[in-house]
Amino acid sequence: MSRVLAAVAWPYANGPRHIGHVSGFGVPSDVFSRYQRMAGHEVLMVSGTDEHGTAIQVQADKEGLTPQQTADKYHRIIATDLKGLGLSYDLYTRTTTRNHSAVVQELFRALHANGYVVPQVQLGAISPTTGRTLADRYIEGTCPICGYEGARGDQCDNCGNQLDPVDLIGPHSRIDGEVPVFVETEHFFLDLPALSTALGSWLDTRVDWRPNVINFSRKLLDDLKPRPITRDLDWGIPIPLPTWRDNPMKSIYVWFDAVIGYLSASIEWARRTGQPEAWRGWWQDPAARSFYFMGKDNITFHSVIWPGILLGANGQGDRGGRPSQFGPLELPTEIVSSEFLTMSGSKFSTSRQTVIYVGDFLRQFGPDALRYFIAVAGPENQDTDFTWDEFVRRTNSELANEWGNLVNRSVAMAHKHNGAVPTPGALAEADVALLETARQAYGTVGDLLERARFKQAIGEAMRVAGAANRYLSDCEPWKLKDDPVRRDTVLHTVLQVVQDINTLLTPFLPHAAQRVHQTLGGSGVWAAQPDLVEVSEEGNDDYPILTGDYVDQQARWASTPIPVGRPLDKPTPLFAKLDETLGQTGPDWAPITV
Ligand code: MF3
Ligand code: ZN
Repeated sequence: MSRVLAAVAWPYANGPRHIGHVSGFGVPSDVFSRYQRMAGHEVLMVSGTDEHGTAIQVQADKEGLTPQQTADKYHRIIATDLKGLGLSYDLYTRTTTRNHSAVVQELFRALHANGYVVPQVQLGAISPTTGRTLADRYIEGTCPICGYEGARGDQCDNCGNQLDPVDLIGPHSRIDGEVPVFVETEHFFLDLPALSTALGSWLDTRVDWRPNVINFSRKLLDDLKPRPITRDLDWGIPIPLPTWRDNPMKSIYVWFDAVIGYLSASIEWARRTGQPEAWRGWWQDPAARSFYFMGKDNITFHSVIWPGILLGANGQGDRGGRPSQFGPLELPTEIVSSEFLTMSGSKFSTSRQTVIYVGDFLRQFGPDALRYFIAVAGPENQDTDFTWDEFVRRTNSELANEWGNLVNRSVAMAHKHNGAVPTPGALAEADVALLETARQAYGTVGDLLERARFKQAIGEAMRVAGAANRYLSDCEPWKLKDDPVRRDTVLHTVLQVVQDINTLLTPFLPHAAQRVHQTLGGSGVWAAQPDLVEVSEEGNDDYPILTGDYVDQQARWASTPIPVGRPLDKPTPLFAKLDETLGQTGPDWAPITV
Protein backbone atom coordinates (compact mmCIF):
# COMPACT_ATOMS: atom_id res chain seq x y z
CA MET A 1 0.00 0.00 0.00
CA SER A 2 1.25 3.44 -0.79
CA ARG A 3 0.07 7.00 -1.10
CA VAL A 4 -1.01 8.37 -4.45
CA LEU A 5 -1.68 12.04 -5.15
CA ALA A 6 -4.01 12.59 -8.10
CA ALA A 7 -3.51 16.24 -9.03
CA VAL A 8 -6.18 17.26 -11.51
CA ALA A 9 -5.98 20.41 -13.66
CA TRP A 10 -8.11 23.30 -12.44
CA PRO A 11 -10.86 24.42 -14.86
CA TYR A 12 -11.25 28.16 -15.46
CA ALA A 13 -14.30 29.86 -13.99
CA ASN A 14 -15.09 31.67 -17.21
CA GLY A 15 -17.94 29.46 -18.39
CA PRO A 16 -19.44 26.00 -18.16
CA ARG A 17 -17.12 23.17 -19.15
CA HIS A 18 -17.56 21.28 -22.41
CA ILE A 19 -16.88 17.60 -23.02
CA GLY A 20 -13.43 18.41 -24.42
CA HIS A 21 -12.34 19.77 -21.05
CA VAL A 22 -13.46 16.77 -19.05
CA SER A 23 -11.91 14.38 -21.55
CA GLY A 24 -8.53 15.98 -20.82
CA PHE A 25 -8.41 16.22 -17.04
CA GLY A 26 -11.65 14.75 -15.68
CA VAL A 27 -12.42 11.24 -16.75
CA PRO A 28 -8.79 10.03 -16.94
CA SER A 29 -7.97 11.27 -13.42
CA ASP A 30 -11.10 9.71 -11.96
CA VAL A 31 -10.62 6.33 -13.63
CA PHE A 32 -7.04 6.34 -12.35
CA SER A 33 -7.98 7.36 -8.80
CA ARG A 34 -10.81 4.88 -8.53
CA TYR A 35 -8.53 2.10 -9.72
CA GLN A 36 -5.77 3.07 -7.27
CA ARG A 37 -8.24 3.08 -4.37
CA MET A 38 -9.59 -0.32 -5.40
CA ALA A 39 -6.01 -1.59 -5.54
CA GLY A 40 -5.63 -0.60 -1.89
CA HIS A 41 -3.69 2.66 -2.15
CA GLU A 42 -4.35 5.81 -0.17
CA VAL A 43 -5.45 8.27 -2.80
CA LEU A 44 -5.70 12.02 -2.40
CA MET A 45 -7.46 13.50 -5.42
CA VAL A 46 -7.53 17.30 -5.42
CA SER A 47 -8.43 20.17 -7.68
CA GLY A 48 -10.70 23.18 -7.84
CA THR A 49 -11.85 26.06 -9.97
CA ASP A 50 -9.21 28.43 -11.37
CA GLU A 51 -10.80 31.79 -10.66
CA HIS A 52 -8.21 34.51 -11.09
CA GLY A 53 -6.72 36.15 -14.13
CA THR A 54 -7.71 37.73 -17.36
CA ALA A 55 -10.00 35.00 -18.64
CA ILE A 56 -12.38 35.53 -15.72
CA GLN A 57 -12.08 39.33 -15.90
CA VAL A 58 -12.96 39.35 -19.58
CA GLN A 59 -15.99 37.12 -18.99
CA ALA A 60 -17.09 39.32 -16.07
CA ASP A 61 -16.90 42.42 -18.29
CA LYS A 62 -18.99 40.61 -20.90
CA GLU A 63 -21.72 39.68 -18.42
CA GLY A 64 -21.68 42.93 -16.49
CA LEU A 65 -20.69 41.10 -13.31
CA THR A 66 -17.77 41.51 -10.94
CA PRO A 67 -15.02 38.92 -11.30
CA GLN A 68 -16.00 37.42 -7.94
CA GLN A 69 -19.65 37.10 -9.02
CA THR A 70 -18.51 35.46 -12.23
CA ALA A 71 -16.26 33.06 -10.33
CA ASP A 72 -19.10 32.26 -7.88
CA LYS A 73 -21.48 31.55 -10.71
CA TYR A 74 -19.25 29.28 -12.76
CA HIS A 75 -17.61 27.57 -9.81
CA ARG A 76 -21.06 26.35 -8.78
CA ILE A 77 -21.95 25.23 -12.30
CA ILE A 78 -18.64 23.46 -12.83
CA ALA A 79 -18.66 21.74 -9.42
CA THR A 80 -22.21 20.53 -10.10
CA ASP A 81 -21.21 19.14 -13.51
CA LEU A 82 -18.14 17.38 -12.10
CA LYS A 83 -20.24 15.81 -9.37
CA GLY A 84 -22.75 14.72 -12.00
CA LEU A 85 -19.97 13.04 -13.89
CA GLY A 86 -19.05 11.18 -10.69
CA LEU A 87 -15.51 12.53 -10.36
CA SER A 88 -14.36 11.28 -6.97
CA TYR A 89 -12.43 14.26 -5.67
CA ASP A 90 -11.33 14.14 -2.07
CA LEU A 91 -11.49 17.88 -2.36
CA TYR A 92 -12.62 20.06 -5.22
CA THR A 93 -12.24 23.64 -4.03
CA ARG A 94 -11.46 27.02 -5.62
CA THR A 95 -8.64 29.56 -5.82
CA THR A 96 -10.44 32.47 -4.16
CA THR A 97 -10.14 31.02 -0.66
CA ARG A 98 -8.03 32.61 2.06
CA ASN A 99 -6.12 29.37 2.48
CA HIS A 100 -5.11 29.31 -1.18
CA SER A 101 -4.03 32.93 -1.12
CA ALA A 102 -1.89 32.36 1.97
CA VAL A 103 -0.17 29.28 0.50
CA VAL A 104 0.56 31.09 -2.78
CA GLN A 105 1.99 34.06 -0.94
CA GLU A 106 4.18 31.85 1.23
CA LEU A 107 5.71 30.11 -1.80
CA PHE A 108 6.22 33.47 -3.50
CA ARG A 109 7.95 34.77 -0.37
CA ALA A 110 10.16 31.70 -0.11
CA LEU A 111 11.17 31.93 -3.76
CA HIS A 112 11.91 35.61 -3.32
CA ALA A 113 13.92 35.03 -0.16
CA ASN A 114 15.92 32.29 -1.89
CA GLY A 115 16.63 34.58 -4.84
CA TYR A 116 14.60 32.74 -7.48
CA VAL A 117 12.02 35.47 -7.83
CA VAL A 118 13.67 38.68 -8.93
CA PRO A 119 12.37 42.10 -9.97
CA GLN A 120 13.05 43.06 -13.53
CA VAL A 121 12.14 46.15 -15.47
CA GLN A 122 10.07 45.66 -18.58
CA LEU A 123 7.90 47.82 -20.77
CA GLY A 124 4.34 48.24 -19.62
CA ALA A 125 1.45 49.90 -21.40
CA ILE A 126 -0.15 53.12 -20.25
CA SER A 127 -2.94 55.16 -21.74
CA PRO A 128 -1.52 58.34 -23.33
CA THR A 129 -4.67 60.31 -22.50
CA THR A 130 -5.10 59.34 -18.83
CA GLY A 131 -1.52 58.40 -18.04
CA ARG A 132 -2.80 55.34 -16.19
CA THR A 133 -1.61 51.76 -16.46
CA LEU A 134 -3.59 49.75 -18.98
CA ALA A 135 -4.26 46.27 -17.65
CA ASP A 136 -2.94 43.53 -19.93
CA ARG A 137 -6.40 42.33 -20.83
CA TYR A 138 -7.40 45.69 -22.28
CA ILE A 139 -4.67 45.56 -24.88
CA GLU A 140 -5.21 43.63 -28.05
CA GLY A 141 -3.08 43.03 -31.10
CA THR A 142 -1.60 40.41 -33.37
CA CYS A 143 0.22 37.49 -31.76
CA PRO A 144 3.93 37.58 -32.67
CA ILE A 145 4.08 33.80 -32.45
CA CYS A 146 1.06 32.54 -34.40
CA GLY A 147 -0.28 35.65 -36.12
CA TYR A 148 -3.70 35.48 -34.45
CA GLU A 149 -5.22 38.96 -34.58
CA GLY A 150 -7.21 38.91 -31.35
CA ALA A 151 -4.32 38.16 -28.99
CA ARG A 152 -4.40 39.88 -25.60
CA GLY A 153 -1.64 41.57 -23.64
CA ASP A 154 -1.16 38.59 -21.37
CA GLN A 155 -1.70 35.64 -23.61
CA CYS A 156 -2.77 34.47 -27.01
CA ASP A 157 -5.92 32.38 -26.83
CA ASN A 158 -5.12 30.87 -30.18
CA CYS A 159 -1.68 29.39 -29.51
CA GLY A 160 -1.79 29.59 -25.71
CA ASN A 161 1.55 31.39 -25.31
CA GLN A 162 2.09 33.81 -22.51
CA LEU A 163 2.73 37.31 -23.89
CA ASP A 164 3.55 40.79 -22.70
CA PRO A 165 1.64 43.75 -24.15
CA VAL A 166 4.85 45.03 -25.73
CA ASP A 167 5.15 41.79 -27.75
CA LEU A 168 1.90 42.42 -29.62
CA ILE A 169 2.04 43.64 -33.20
CA GLY A 170 -0.17 46.69 -33.62
CA PRO A 171 -1.22 46.96 -29.95
CA HIS A 172 -4.37 48.94 -29.24
CA SER A 173 -6.86 49.38 -26.41
CA ARG A 174 -9.85 47.05 -26.60
CA ILE A 175 -12.01 49.78 -25.15
CA ASP A 176 -11.41 52.71 -27.48
CA GLY A 177 -8.77 51.63 -29.95
CA GLU A 178 -6.24 54.02 -28.46
CA VAL A 179 -2.61 53.08 -29.08
CA PRO A 180 -0.84 52.67 -25.73
CA VAL A 181 2.55 54.11 -24.95
CA PHE A 182 5.11 51.91 -23.27
CA VAL A 183 7.01 52.98 -20.20
CA GLU A 184 9.32 51.09 -17.90
CA THR A 185 7.60 49.17 -15.15
CA GLU A 186 8.82 46.65 -12.62
CA HIS A 187 7.58 43.08 -12.39
CA PHE A 188 8.70 39.90 -10.67
CA PHE A 189 10.22 37.11 -12.71
CA LEU A 190 10.74 33.47 -11.87
CA ASP A 191 14.44 32.97 -12.55
CA LEU A 192 14.16 29.72 -14.44
CA PRO A 193 17.79 29.77 -15.68
CA ALA A 194 18.91 29.50 -12.02
CA LEU A 195 16.71 26.40 -11.70
CA SER A 196 17.63 24.86 -15.02
CA THR A 197 20.36 22.50 -13.76
CA ALA A 198 18.13 21.19 -10.99
CA LEU A 199 15.23 20.81 -13.41
CA GLY A 200 17.47 18.92 -15.84
CA SER A 201 18.70 16.45 -13.20
CA TRP A 202 15.17 15.85 -12.06
CA LEU A 203 13.85 15.30 -15.60
CA ASP A 204 16.65 12.77 -16.14
CA THR A 205 15.14 10.66 -13.38
CA ARG A 206 11.71 10.63 -15.06
CA VAL A 207 11.98 7.46 -17.07
CA ASP A 208 8.34 6.41 -17.28
CA TRP A 209 6.82 9.45 -18.93
CA ARG A 210 5.17 9.25 -22.29
CA PRO A 211 7.79 10.09 -24.93
CA ASN A 212 5.96 13.18 -26.20
CA VAL A 213 5.78 14.68 -22.70
CA ILE A 214 9.39 14.02 -21.73
CA ASN A 215 10.80 15.16 -25.08
CA PHE A 216 8.71 18.31 -25.09
CA SER A 217 9.79 19.11 -21.52
CA ARG A 218 13.50 18.49 -22.15
CA LYS A 219 13.37 20.78 -25.15
CA LEU A 220 11.96 23.59 -23.01
CA LEU A 221 15.09 23.43 -20.84
CA ASP A 222 17.32 24.35 -23.77
CA ASP A 223 15.94 27.85 -23.85
CA LEU A 224 14.81 28.83 -20.38
CA LYS A 225 14.31 32.52 -19.75
CA PRO A 226 13.12 34.29 -16.63
CA ARG A 227 9.35 34.36 -16.74
CA PRO A 228 7.16 37.15 -15.37
CA ILE A 229 4.93 35.91 -12.55
CA THR A 230 3.21 39.21 -11.79
CA ARG A 231 0.98 41.08 -14.22
CA ASP A 232 -0.73 44.42 -14.65
CA LEU A 233 -3.98 43.04 -13.41
CA ASP A 234 -6.31 43.84 -10.54
CA TRP A 235 -8.00 40.43 -10.26
CA GLY A 236 -5.46 38.21 -8.62
CA ILE A 237 -3.59 37.46 -5.42
CA PRO A 238 -1.66 40.49 -4.08
CA ILE A 239 2.13 40.42 -4.24
CA PRO A 240 3.24 39.66 -0.65
CA LEU A 241 6.04 42.21 -0.38
CA PRO A 242 6.14 45.63 1.28
CA THR A 243 4.96 48.46 -1.03
CA TRP A 244 3.76 45.89 -3.62
CA ARG A 245 1.09 44.40 -1.45
CA ASP A 246 -1.11 47.45 -1.64
CA ASN A 247 -0.77 48.17 -5.32
CA PRO A 248 -4.17 47.16 -6.69
CA MET A 249 -2.95 47.32 -10.27
CA LYS A 250 -0.45 44.52 -9.92
CA SER A 251 -1.04 40.96 -8.84
CA ILE A 252 0.34 37.47 -9.10
CA TYR A 253 0.04 35.86 -12.52
CA VAL A 254 -2.81 33.35 -12.67
CA TRP A 255 -0.67 30.38 -13.65
CA PHE A 256 1.71 30.86 -10.75
CA ASP A 257 -1.32 30.95 -8.49
CA ALA A 258 -3.18 28.02 -10.07
CA VAL A 259 -0.48 25.32 -9.99
CA ILE A 260 0.06 26.01 -6.29
CA GLY A 261 -3.57 24.95 -5.87
CA TYR A 262 -2.48 21.31 -5.74
CA LEU A 263 -0.64 22.03 -2.51
CA SER A 264 -3.17 24.46 -1.03
CA ALA A 265 -6.06 22.09 -1.75
CA SER A 266 -4.18 19.24 -0.06
CA ILE A 267 -3.66 21.46 2.97
CA GLU A 268 -7.33 22.49 2.95
CA TRP A 269 -8.39 18.85 2.68
CA ALA A 270 -6.25 17.93 5.67
CA ARG A 271 -7.75 20.73 7.74
CA ARG A 272 -11.28 19.74 6.79
CA THR A 273 -10.67 16.14 7.83
CA GLY A 274 -9.48 17.30 11.25
CA GLN A 275 -5.89 16.17 10.71
CA PRO A 276 -4.17 19.38 9.62
CA GLU A 277 -0.79 17.71 9.07
CA ALA A 278 -2.11 14.81 7.00
CA TRP A 279 -1.27 16.47 3.65
CA ARG A 280 2.43 15.93 4.37
CA GLY A 281 2.08 12.21 3.69
CA TRP A 282 1.51 12.98 0.00
CA TRP A 283 4.00 15.85 -0.33
CA GLN A 284 7.00 15.01 1.78
CA ASP A 285 7.34 11.26 1.64
CA PRO A 286 9.58 10.25 -1.30
CA ALA A 287 7.69 6.95 -1.45
CA ALA A 288 4.41 8.74 -2.21
CA ARG A 289 3.67 9.06 -5.93
CA SER A 290 2.00 12.03 -7.62
CA PHE A 291 0.21 11.97 -10.97
CA TYR A 292 -0.88 15.17 -12.71
CA PHE A 293 -3.76 15.05 -15.21
CA MET A 294 -4.37 17.67 -17.89
CA GLY A 295 -4.83 18.56 -21.53
CA LYS A 296 -1.68 18.97 -23.59
CA ASP A 297 -1.82 22.78 -23.54
CA ASN A 298 -0.99 22.58 -19.82
CA ILE A 299 2.21 20.51 -20.05
CA THR A 300 4.72 23.39 -19.78
CA PHE A 301 3.18 24.60 -16.56
CA HIS A 302 3.31 21.18 -14.93
CA SER A 303 6.57 19.75 -16.24
CA VAL A 304 8.73 22.87 -15.93
CA ILE A 305 7.09 25.85 -14.18
CA TRP A 306 5.55 23.94 -11.26
CA PRO A 307 8.65 21.80 -10.64
CA GLY A 308 10.69 25.01 -10.93
CA ILE A 309 8.53 26.69 -8.29
CA LEU A 310 8.92 23.66 -6.02
CA LEU A 311 12.70 23.45 -6.46
CA GLY A 312 13.11 27.17 -5.82
CA ALA A 313 10.83 27.16 -2.79
CA ASN A 314 12.75 24.13 -1.48
CA GLY A 315 16.04 25.99 -1.95
CA GLN A 316 17.30 23.44 -4.47
CA GLY A 317 18.44 25.59 -7.41
CA ASP A 318 21.81 27.18 -8.27
CA ARG A 319 21.40 29.74 -5.53
CA GLY A 320 20.63 27.24 -2.79
CA GLY A 321 18.33 28.53 -0.08
CA ARG A 322 16.03 27.31 2.66
CA PRO A 323 12.73 25.47 2.30
CA SER A 324 9.50 27.44 2.68
CA GLN A 325 7.54 27.17 5.91
CA PHE A 326 5.96 24.00 4.51
CA GLY A 327 9.31 22.21 4.42
CA PRO A 328 10.76 20.45 1.37
CA LEU A 329 8.10 19.32 -1.13
CA GLU A 330 8.23 16.46 -3.61
CA LEU A 331 8.13 17.02 -7.37
CA PRO A 332 5.65 15.30 -9.73
CA THR A 333 6.12 11.60 -10.35
CA GLU A 334 4.30 11.67 -13.66
CA ILE A 335 2.52 14.04 -16.00
CA VAL A 336 -0.46 12.39 -17.72
CA SER A 337 -1.60 14.60 -20.54
CA SER A 338 -4.31 14.13 -23.12
CA GLU A 339 -4.57 15.48 -26.61
CA PHE A 340 -7.67 17.45 -27.63
CA LEU A 341 -11.22 16.29 -28.17
CA THR A 342 -12.49 18.49 -30.96
CA MET A 343 -16.10 19.09 -31.80
CA SER A 344 -15.67 20.48 -35.26
CA GLY A 345 -16.39 17.51 -37.48
CA SER A 346 -20.05 18.34 -37.54
CA LYS A 347 -21.35 21.85 -37.63
CA PHE A 348 -23.56 22.63 -34.70
CA SER A 349 -25.95 25.51 -35.04
CA THR A 350 -25.78 26.65 -31.42
CA SER A 351 -23.02 29.12 -32.18
CA ARG A 352 -20.14 29.76 -34.47
CA GLN A 353 -18.12 27.43 -32.34
CA THR A 354 -19.21 23.88 -31.82
CA VAL A 355 -19.72 23.32 -28.13
CA ILE A 356 -21.19 20.36 -26.29
CA TYR A 357 -21.56 21.27 -22.64
CA VAL A 358 -21.13 18.66 -19.92
CA GLY A 359 -24.34 19.73 -18.15
CA ASP A 360 -26.49 19.29 -21.26
CA PHE A 361 -24.85 15.98 -22.00
CA LEU A 362 -25.42 14.61 -18.50
CA ARG A 363 -29.06 15.65 -18.45
CA GLN A 364 -29.82 13.66 -21.57
CA PHE A 365 -27.44 10.71 -21.49
CA GLY A 366 -26.23 10.34 -17.90
CA PRO A 367 -22.64 10.13 -16.76
CA ASP A 368 -21.48 6.66 -17.73
CA ALA A 369 -22.22 6.93 -21.44
CA LEU A 370 -19.91 9.95 -21.57
CA ARG A 371 -17.30 8.32 -19.34
CA TYR A 372 -17.36 5.22 -21.53
CA PHE A 373 -17.02 7.19 -24.73
CA ILE A 374 -14.11 9.26 -23.42
CA ALA A 375 -12.31 6.20 -22.09
CA VAL A 376 -12.76 4.09 -25.19
CA ALA A 377 -12.67 6.70 -27.95
CA GLY A 378 -11.23 9.81 -26.30
CA PRO A 379 -8.12 11.80 -27.22
CA GLU A 380 -5.63 9.74 -25.19
CA ASN A 381 -2.91 9.70 -27.83
CA GLN A 382 -4.08 11.97 -30.61
CA ASP A 383 -6.55 14.73 -31.32
CA THR A 384 -9.91 13.11 -31.81
CA ASP A 385 -13.11 14.47 -33.22
CA PHE A 386 -16.33 13.80 -31.34
CA THR A 387 -19.21 12.73 -33.56
CA TRP A 388 -22.76 11.87 -32.51
CA ASP A 389 -22.68 9.03 -34.94
CA GLU A 390 -19.85 7.28 -33.15
CA PHE A 391 -21.35 8.10 -29.76
CA VAL A 392 -24.62 6.42 -30.73
CA ARG A 393 -22.87 3.44 -32.26
CA ARG A 394 -20.64 2.78 -29.25
CA THR A 395 -23.39 3.36 -26.73
CA ASN A 396 -25.74 0.97 -28.49
CA SER A 397 -23.44 -1.77 -29.67
CA GLU A 398 -20.87 -1.79 -26.89
CA LEU A 399 -22.42 -0.41 -23.70
CA ALA A 400 -26.01 -1.54 -24.21
CA ASN A 401 -25.53 -4.73 -26.27
CA GLU A 402 -22.20 -6.11 -25.25
CA TRP A 403 -22.31 -5.21 -21.56
CA GLY A 404 -25.83 -4.20 -20.51
CA ASN A 405 -27.41 -7.13 -22.28
CA LEU A 406 -25.00 -9.62 -20.82
CA VAL A 407 -25.91 -8.51 -17.31
CA ASN A 408 -29.57 -8.52 -18.17
CA ARG A 409 -29.89 -11.91 -19.72
CA SER A 410 -27.66 -13.64 -17.17
CA VAL A 411 -29.58 -12.29 -14.20
CA ALA A 412 -32.95 -12.71 -15.91
CA MET A 413 -32.33 -16.41 -16.53
CA ALA A 414 -31.09 -17.08 -13.01
CA HIS A 415 -34.03 -15.14 -11.61
CA LYS A 416 -36.47 -17.11 -13.68
CA HIS A 417 -35.07 -20.58 -12.98
CA ASN A 418 -33.64 -20.20 -9.51
CA GLY A 419 -34.71 -16.85 -8.07
CA ALA A 420 -31.18 -16.75 -6.71
CA VAL A 421 -27.54 -17.38 -7.60
CA PRO A 422 -27.61 -21.10 -8.50
CA THR A 423 -25.37 -23.79 -7.05
CA PRO A 424 -22.83 -24.96 -9.62
CA GLY A 425 -22.14 -28.61 -10.42
CA ALA A 426 -18.83 -29.90 -11.75
CA LEU A 427 -17.11 -27.39 -14.02
CA ALA A 428 -16.58 -28.14 -17.70
CA GLU A 429 -13.56 -26.96 -19.65
CA ALA A 430 -15.40 -23.98 -21.10
CA ASP A 431 -16.43 -22.82 -17.62
CA VAL A 432 -12.90 -23.01 -16.29
CA ALA A 433 -11.57 -21.18 -19.34
CA LEU A 434 -14.01 -18.29 -18.99
CA LEU A 435 -13.43 -17.97 -15.25
CA GLU A 436 -9.70 -17.94 -15.91
CA THR A 437 -10.02 -15.25 -18.60
CA ALA A 438 -11.84 -13.05 -16.14
CA ARG A 439 -9.37 -13.68 -13.34
CA GLN A 440 -6.38 -12.92 -15.50
CA ALA A 441 -7.88 -9.64 -16.62
CA TYR A 442 -7.29 -8.16 -13.15
CA GLY A 443 -3.57 -8.27 -13.86
CA THR A 444 -3.76 -7.09 -17.46
CA VAL A 445 -6.26 -4.28 -16.93
CA GLY A 446 -4.61 -3.26 -13.65
CA ASP A 447 -1.17 -2.92 -15.26
CA LEU A 448 -2.62 -0.81 -18.05
CA LEU A 449 -4.45 1.45 -15.60
CA GLU A 450 -1.30 1.74 -13.51
CA ARG A 451 0.37 3.14 -16.62
CA ALA A 452 -2.62 5.37 -17.48
CA ARG A 453 -3.35 3.45 -20.70
CA PHE A 454 -7.09 3.88 -20.41
CA LYS A 455 -8.13 2.90 -23.91
CA GLN A 456 -6.33 -0.40 -23.84
CA ALA A 457 -7.50 -1.03 -20.29
CA ILE A 458 -11.19 -0.66 -21.05
CA GLY A 459 -10.69 -2.63 -24.27
CA GLU A 460 -9.30 -5.56 -22.26
CA ALA A 461 -12.20 -5.38 -19.79
CA MET A 462 -14.72 -5.36 -22.63
CA ARG A 463 -12.97 -8.34 -24.19
CA VAL A 464 -13.97 -10.38 -21.18
CA ALA A 465 -17.57 -9.29 -21.80
CA GLY A 466 -17.20 -10.47 -25.40
CA ALA A 467 -15.90 -13.84 -24.16
CA ALA A 468 -18.81 -14.16 -21.74
CA ASN A 469 -21.31 -13.43 -24.50
CA ARG A 470 -19.74 -16.08 -26.70
CA TYR A 471 -19.80 -18.50 -23.80
CA LEU A 472 -23.54 -17.98 -23.38
CA SER A 473 -24.16 -18.47 -27.11
CA ASP A 474 -22.06 -21.64 -27.05
CA CYS A 475 -23.56 -23.15 -23.91
CA GLU A 476 -27.14 -22.08 -24.67
CA PRO A 477 -28.39 -22.41 -21.09
CA TRP A 478 -31.90 -21.57 -22.32
CA LYS A 479 -31.94 -24.96 -24.07
CA LEU A 480 -30.88 -26.92 -21.00
CA LYS A 481 -34.36 -27.56 -19.62
CA ASP A 482 -33.58 -31.22 -19.20
CA ASP A 483 -30.22 -30.74 -17.58
CA PRO A 484 -30.78 -28.34 -14.69
CA VAL A 485 -27.42 -29.13 -13.10
CA ARG A 486 -25.55 -28.11 -16.22
CA ARG A 487 -27.80 -25.07 -16.59
CA ASP A 488 -27.12 -24.01 -13.01
CA THR A 489 -23.41 -24.44 -13.59
CA VAL A 490 -23.46 -22.26 -16.70
CA LEU A 491 -25.55 -19.60 -15.00
CA HIS A 492 -23.39 -19.62 -11.93
CA THR A 493 -20.28 -19.29 -14.07
CA VAL A 494 -21.62 -16.42 -16.09
CA LEU A 495 -22.88 -14.60 -13.00
CA GLN A 496 -19.45 -14.94 -11.42
CA VAL A 497 -17.87 -13.51 -14.55
CA VAL A 498 -20.42 -10.71 -14.77
CA GLN A 499 -19.41 -9.78 -11.25
CA ASP A 500 -15.76 -9.82 -12.28
CA ILE A 501 -16.36 -7.71 -15.37
CA ASN A 502 -18.33 -5.30 -13.24
CA THR A 503 -15.35 -4.98 -10.93
CA LEU A 504 -13.01 -4.39 -13.87
CA LEU A 505 -15.35 -1.74 -15.27
CA THR A 506 -15.97 0.01 -11.94
CA PRO A 507 -13.25 2.69 -12.41
CA PHE A 508 -14.79 3.58 -15.78
CA LEU A 509 -18.50 3.14 -15.09
CA PRO A 510 -18.99 3.66 -11.35
CA HIS A 511 -22.71 4.48 -11.55
CA ALA A 512 -23.54 1.45 -13.65
CA ALA A 513 -21.27 -0.64 -11.44
CA GLN A 514 -23.33 0.26 -8.39
CA ARG A 515 -26.49 -0.85 -10.21
CA VAL A 516 -24.95 -4.10 -11.41
CA HIS A 517 -23.81 -4.77 -7.85
CA GLN A 518 -27.46 -4.47 -6.75
CA THR A 519 -28.72 -6.41 -9.74
CA LEU A 520 -26.44 -9.23 -8.62
CA GLY A 521 -28.13 -9.13 -5.23
CA GLY A 522 -25.50 -7.03 -3.47
CA SER A 523 -26.33 -4.25 -1.05
CA GLY A 524 -24.56 -1.19 0.36
CA VAL A 525 -22.13 1.11 -1.41
CA TRP A 526 -20.09 -0.63 -4.08
CA ALA A 527 -18.67 2.47 -5.81
CA ALA A 528 -18.87 5.71 -3.81
CA GLN A 529 -19.81 9.03 -5.36
CA PRO A 530 -18.74 12.56 -4.46
CA ASP A 531 -20.90 14.83 -2.35
CA LEU A 532 -21.56 18.49 -3.03
CA VAL A 533 -21.24 20.24 0.31
CA GLU A 534 -21.96 23.90 1.01
CA VAL A 535 -19.26 25.61 3.03
CA SER A 536 -18.54 29.22 3.84
CA GLU A 537 -15.73 31.53 4.74
CA GLU A 538 -16.44 34.26 7.22
CA GLY A 539 -17.99 37.24 5.49
CA ASN A 540 -18.67 35.48 2.20
CA ASP A 541 -21.60 33.58 0.72
CA ASP A 542 -21.76 29.81 0.87
CA TYR A 543 -20.07 27.97 -1.94
CA PRO A 544 -19.98 24.30 -2.87
CA ILE A 545 -17.03 21.96 -2.59
CA LEU A 546 -16.84 18.35 -3.64
CA THR A 547 -15.62 15.74 -1.24
CA GLY A 548 -16.46 12.16 -0.44
CA ASP A 549 -15.94 9.05 1.58
CA TYR A 550 -14.41 6.56 -0.80
CA VAL A 551 -12.61 4.43 1.75
CA ASP A 552 -15.61 2.46 2.94
CA GLN A 553 -16.87 1.47 -0.49
CA GLN A 554 -16.86 -2.27 -1.18
CA ALA A 555 -15.16 -2.25 -4.57
CA ARG A 556 -11.72 -3.92 -4.46
CA TRP A 557 -9.46 -4.91 -7.33
CA ALA A 558 -9.86 -8.64 -6.82
CA SER A 559 -12.18 -11.46 -7.72
CA THR A 560 -14.53 -12.53 -4.95
CA PRO A 561 -16.82 -15.55 -5.17
CA ILE A 562 -20.43 -14.66 -5.86
CA PRO A 563 -22.47 -16.04 -2.94
CA VAL A 564 -24.55 -19.07 -3.90
CA GLY A 565 -28.21 -18.70 -2.95
CA ARG A 566 -28.22 -14.92 -2.95
CA PRO A 567 -31.71 -13.83 -4.09
CA LEU A 568 -31.96 -12.24 -7.53
CA ASP A 569 -34.76 -9.93 -8.63
CA LYS A 570 -35.94 -9.45 -12.17
CA PRO A 571 -33.41 -7.05 -13.72
CA THR A 572 -34.16 -3.80 -15.52
CA PRO A 573 -32.08 -2.68 -18.52
CA LEU A 574 -28.75 -1.14 -17.55
CA PHE A 575 -28.34 1.25 -20.48
CA ALA A 576 -31.09 2.72 -22.60
CA LYS A 577 -30.51 2.32 -26.31
CA LEU A 578 -30.26 5.56 -28.25
CA ASP A 579 -32.40 6.31 -31.26
CA GLU A 580 -30.23 5.74 -34.33
CA THR A 581 -31.34 9.02 -35.88
CA LEU A 582 -29.56 10.91 -33.12
CA GLY A 583 -26.34 10.06 -34.94
CA GLN A 584 -27.51 12.08 -37.94
CA THR A 585 -29.34 14.91 -36.22
CA GLY A 586 -27.63 15.38 -32.88
CA PRO A 587 -29.73 16.37 -29.84
CA ASP A 588 -31.81 19.53 -30.09
CA TRP A 589 -29.42 21.48 -27.84
CA ALA A 590 -26.52 20.77 -30.20
CA PRO A 591 -28.09 19.88 -33.54
CA ILE A 592 -26.04 18.94 -36.56
CA THR A 593 -26.72 21.30 -39.45
CA VAL A 594 -24.53 19.97 -42.23
N1 MF3 B 1 -7.21 26.78 -15.82
C1 MF3 B 1 -6.21 26.16 -16.67
C2 MF3 B 1 -6.82 25.70 -17.97
O1 MF3 B 1 -8.00 25.47 -18.01
C3 MF3 B 1 -5.58 24.97 -16.01
C4 MF3 B 1 -4.95 25.24 -14.74
S1 MF3 B 1 -4.23 23.83 -14.16
C5 MF3 B 1 -3.37 24.35 -12.82
O2 MF3 B 1 -6.10 25.53 -18.92
F1 MF3 B 1 -2.57 23.49 -12.48
F2 MF3 B 1 -2.67 25.39 -13.09
F3 MF3 B 1 -4.16 24.57 -11.89
ZN1 ZN C 1 -0.61 33.08 -30.75
